[in-house]
Amino acid sequence: MTHLFQAFDITKKFAGLVALDQVSFHLDEGEILGLIGPNGAGKSTCFNVITGTLKPTSGRIELREQDITGMPPYLTAHMGLARTFQHTTVFQHLTVRENIEAACWLRSKVGLGCTLLRTSSYRSSEISLKTSVDDILSMIDLRHVQDSRAKGLPYGYLRRLGIGIALGTNPALLLMDEPAAGLNPTESAEFSKLARRLRDFGITIVIVEHDMKVIMGLCDRIVVLNYGKKIAEGSPGVIRRDPQVIESYLGKSHDEAETARA
Ligand SMILES: Nc1ncnc2c1ncn2[C@@H]1O[C@H](COP(=O)(O)OP(=O)(O)O)[C@@H](O)[C@H]1O
Ligand SMILES: [Mg+2]
Repeated sequence: MTHLFQAFDITKKFAGLVALDQVSFHLDEGEILGLIGPNGAGKSTCFNVITGTLKPTSGRIELREQDITGMPPYLTAHMGLARTFQHTTVFQHLTVRENIEAACWLRSKVGLGCTLLRTSSYRSSEISLKTSVDDILSMIDLRHVQDSRAKGLPYGYLRRLGIGIALGTNPALLLMDEPAAGLNPTESAEFSKLARRLRDFGITIVIVEHDMKVIMGLCDRIVVLNYGKKIAEGSPGVIRRDPQVIESYLGKSHDEAETARA
């Protein structure tokens, strides 16, 4: 089977620092992959290199066997990549629905050429746009607050809205950076349910997360980074017992792990 996504020997250097050191991994369609490791391990940099926010120093990235290495974010988005950020970015003064509409408008812009030429296809795209805004609102379970302004909504709702915005470009592969950070246990459990729903909908997912309950309960496979290097890869059961992973990350409490990298 060909992989949906492959990263080959990705290296990213910042001045003297090697943030990613020859990291390779693949993703199969419909998988949920966990990307874990201590703070500073290179997880966010990995996301930035994949989506094209940063160019890798060397290495190659393929989506559906097409080379997307160094493609800028608007093109990788067009190819089917989307991400959510460590800190949620939503339009605070817009309603929940308007936030999702704005995100979907980005996708519809791609088809603007047809829109100008053919009124009928414009109309049909307008209809499909409305459908997908409702689909997304249902998927992130925020229909009941669709007309509320984002400003003032509970934190868990805002995180879900951040995911909804990423869904606006209709991604095949969704990268989520610490989606459960700051969530209470109930909200984390809701997040895990949402992630499974997205996967069942056909979206392949990569999650960077420190909450091991979320990671171990949700992921089919886990890749572990430490100081920019991949030190382990396998099922949650295998990763949990890996001596090197325990030594570098799992053995430490979250606070200790934070202090250790500082
Ligand atoms: N834009 C940047 N410029 C310089 N150094 C960076 C930049 N982004 C990240 N780094 C460094 O790269 C390393 C990996 O960072 P990051 O990918 O954010 O780690 P993680 O997400 O695993 O906590 C860290 O040492 C960080 O300080
Ligand atoms: Mg990070």
